This record gives sequence, C-alpha cells and structure tokens, in this order.
Amino acid sequence: MKSSKIILCLLAISFANLNYSCKTKIVSSTSKVVVSPVPVDESKTLTKIALGSCNRSDYDQPLWQPILEKKPDLWIWLGDNIYGDTEDMEALAANYARQKNNTEYQKLLATTPIVGIWDDHDYGVNDGGKEYPKRAESRDIMLDFLNVPKSNLVWQREGGYQSYTFGKAGKKVKVLLLDARYFRDHVERRRGQYPQYIPNPTGTILGKKQWQWLEEELKTSDAQVHIIGSGIQILPTQHNYEKWNTFPQERDQLFSLLTKYQTSGAIFISGDRHLGEISKKEIKGLEYPLVELTTSGLTHTYEKASEENSLRVGNLTGQLNFGFIEIDWSKDKPVVEIEIRGKEGKLFQAYNINYN
Ligand SMILES: [Fe+2]
Repeated sequence: MKSSKIILCLLAISFANLNYSCKTKIVSSTSKVVVSPVPVDESKTLTKIALGSCNRSDYDQPLWQPILEKKPDLWIWLGDNIYGDTEDMEALAANYARQKNNTEYQKLLATTPIVGIWDDHDYGVNDGGKEYPKRAESRDIMLDFLNVPKSNLVWQREGGYQSYTFGKAGKKVKVLLLDARYFRDHVERRRGQYPQYIPNPTGTILGKKQWQWLEEELKTSDAQVHIIGSGIQILPTQHNYEKWNTFPQERDQLFSLLTKYQTSGAIFISGDRHLGEISKKEIKGLEYPLVELTTSGLTHTYEKASEENSLRVGNLTGQLNFGFIEIDWSKDKPVVEIEIRGKEGKLFQAYNINYN
C-alpha cells in the first residue's frame, strides 16, 4: 500500500540560523473521496437489520449485493471488519480506507445506516485484550471508519462500546454494541494439539465502567427489542476458541442483568468464528429463551466446520454468510425472524421468536 506524505512544517526563524520544526502527517493514497454515508437516524423504526463479520478488505466481497437486495434499515458490523493485525496505525487506517473504497461496500454506505464494533483483528492483535498498546489510537480509527459523529458519547470515553435506540414508543429497538477487547483481561492458552483457553474466573471482559454503562442502559430502557452485539460468542461453551465462557462469571453477570431488569426481547449477535449458527438457552428468571445469532464470515469461512454445540438450533453454516433480522411489529409484542443467508441471498437457516 503506497502512501503519500504531506509535510506540514512550522518554521521558526531566528536571526542567527534557520530552525525547521516539522510534523509529518501521513495521508494514505487510498483515502480518496467516498460517497456520502447515510447518517444513523434513531427516530426511524427498524424492521430489517443486516449484520456480518470477518471481512478481509483484500478479498472478494460477494455478499454486499444480496445484502443490498434485502434493503436493510441498518447494517451492523460485528468485528474483524478488516484484518489489521498491526501496531502501525498508518497501515490500519489504510486497510480501513481500502474497505471504504470497495465499490460494492460504497453502495451500502450510500443507502444504509451503518453501526459497528470491532473484534480482535480490526482491534489490532489476534485474540488481543487490554494489553494491546495502540488500543486508544485504534479505537479512534475504527470510529472514523464507522463515521460515528463527534456528538456520540463514545468519543468522550475509553473503549468502543455504543448504544443506539431506534424507533418510537412501542416499537423501539435498542442496539447495544459491547467492546470485548479494550478492557479484557489476559487469558492463557493451553498448548497442544487442541489449544484451549484456560478459564479466567476472576478477570473481566467488559471492565468496570462498561459494566456500569450497560447496567444503566438496561435499567432505563423502554425498548421492546434489545439487540446485544459482541465480537466473540456469548452462549456457546464447547468449542476451544475465544468465547464469553472463558470468563464464566462475566457471562453469568450478563444473564443476571437481563433477568434483574426483565429486559424485553434480548437477542445476542456475534461473529468471529468463520461459521454461522443459531444458539438458544433458557435462563432461570427470564420468561423467554435467549437466542444468539452468530454470523461469520463475509469473505472467508471454515467450509468444513464441524463442532459440538448443544445449544445450537438448526445447522452449522460453513459457507460465506450474513445475518438478517426482521421484526414484525403488527402484534401486541414483536415477532422476530432471525436468518443466516449467503451468496445470492440463499437462506441457510431461520429461527422465529414470538414474544407474544
Ligand atoms: Fe475474531
């Protein structure tokens, strides 16, 4: 990736000699003008939401067309939105710029409001947490990529977690995007033929401030549907990769908050896994089951994916996929259709949640 440099020089001239104090600002050659992105308008009611993750900016991206054909009211990025994997912020920004200049993605930018959160690869380091030294800089670059307006409170705090509440009374959807990287404590990985994360029963994924924020968001919410996004999976426990269950007390705390505030229509969405699946879990004290839609990836997957998940409903999808959520507001309470789709919009699986 070639970059052009704009040299900004502040000249400090003395009579004795010439001193040049120069700052170098790197501007990527890929940061050419892009279409005007559609702003996120929270006054609008959501009925169709599309989402996806695990997207290499240098790979073919054949799913934007079928995503556009679904005419979603909102697109949600669920992490690994690019594969940065670097502490070089110029390279990270250039990688995001390449994504933003993707011709098909620009059609989405021009027609569909976009929100999102990161996972490890766009954060900057594989399976990384709070120890990543460029997390603050990387956070700003992600928010720029997402065109998050400066008025959004996320700019005033650490981390990338965000909240959006769409629609009018009786038809509200709250989208909570959790940051499972910026504050996450260290995890050890057991070596061997099947490397496994060693559970950390005392550490945190979200960190204290994000937990306080999340509790306040749930406590004060009057939304009918709560879409809770996390890069890594929340419900599945059996696979050896990153998951909330590596910090079992954090997973339990999330369930406890939903129970404590009797949160309406909570649905988890996640990415990361290079496969698609839908999981379901009954939680004591919550009057409906929690369902998680995992959709990954947009550009590459484990085609031969095969693993146990006793919470899975339906099949495991090993082909390129995106997620789609459609909300029927015509009944007393919403009816939500969750789908995993692929090339040409092919439907791999669907699950219906009726809250009536
Ligand atoms: Fe990931």
